[in-house]
Amino acid sequence: MGRKDMREKKSNYKGRIIVALDTPDLGFAKKLVRILKDEIKIFKVGSELMTAHGPRAVRTVLELGAEVFLDLKFHDIPNTVAQATRAAVRLGICMLNLHVAGGLQMMQEACIASADEARRNNLKPPKLLGVTLLTSLSDEEVHEEIGLPKSINRIAVQYAQLAQKAGLDGVVSSALEARKIKTQCGPNFLVVSPGIRPEWAGRDDQRRVLSPREAFELGASYIVIGRPITEADDPGKAIRQISRSL
Ligand code: C5P
Repeated sequence: MGRKDMREKKSNYKGRIIVALDTPDLGFAKKLVRILKDEIKIFKVGSELMTAHGPRAVRTVLELGAEVFLDLKFHDIPNTVAQATRAAVRLGICMLNLHVAGGLQMMQEACIASADEARRNNLKPPKLLGVTLLTSLSDEEVHEEIGLPKSINRIAVQYAQLAQKAGLDGVVSSALEARKIKTQCGPNFLVVSPGIRPEWAGRDDQRRVLSPREAFELGASYIVIGRPITEADDPGKAIRQISRSL
């Protein structure tokens, strides 16, 4: 690969890193966005920040010129999820997720609601992602506690196919399943992968971890990184280190 190709590949990776703003402190979230926004385009607002500050959390990130992946992992009856999806779309986010375990009808109604609400408000519809299995779960937990008979790997692919059938744009899934999912669902089906740990970071509660580079090599479309950046003494340095590793 020539130098120019390498540079292009690297800048291409950079736009595909999502930083999880997992903090209840809006001031700290703001500070992180300010520090990282030259490197990072999309920030993930999850249940911690959203429960503490509501839609203001999303608006704060948008006002700083970044985009928002709203990670509330909707899982409820179809009507409730469809209405919650409409409210999320009105915030002007670029990605939203819901649990595949909520079923085909729930996902289909969310897709219809998202497209309709975006059209009514003249907004671009967000990418809708299905959550397959949490990356904090081990095979034993999935079998013994949750009672699913298949391996995580097979469930993730089956869930991805169901998400695609419902009209979703992709799934949130470990990069360990990315290749299989892309083989089954096609190269344009998004695989957004958390459970990422640079070599220098601890695992925390994540079981199936991969480095940023490994995750992209395995076919992840985007990677989500939280604590290795948000809990770093110097988040700016952490992201530059990750960027260099790609
Ligand atoms: O701090 P860490 O890098 O582990 O953060 C990962 C983020 O991705 C968290 O915000 C978590 O909620 C989210 N996530 C996950 N596993 C999934 C789906 C989402 O870790 N399957």
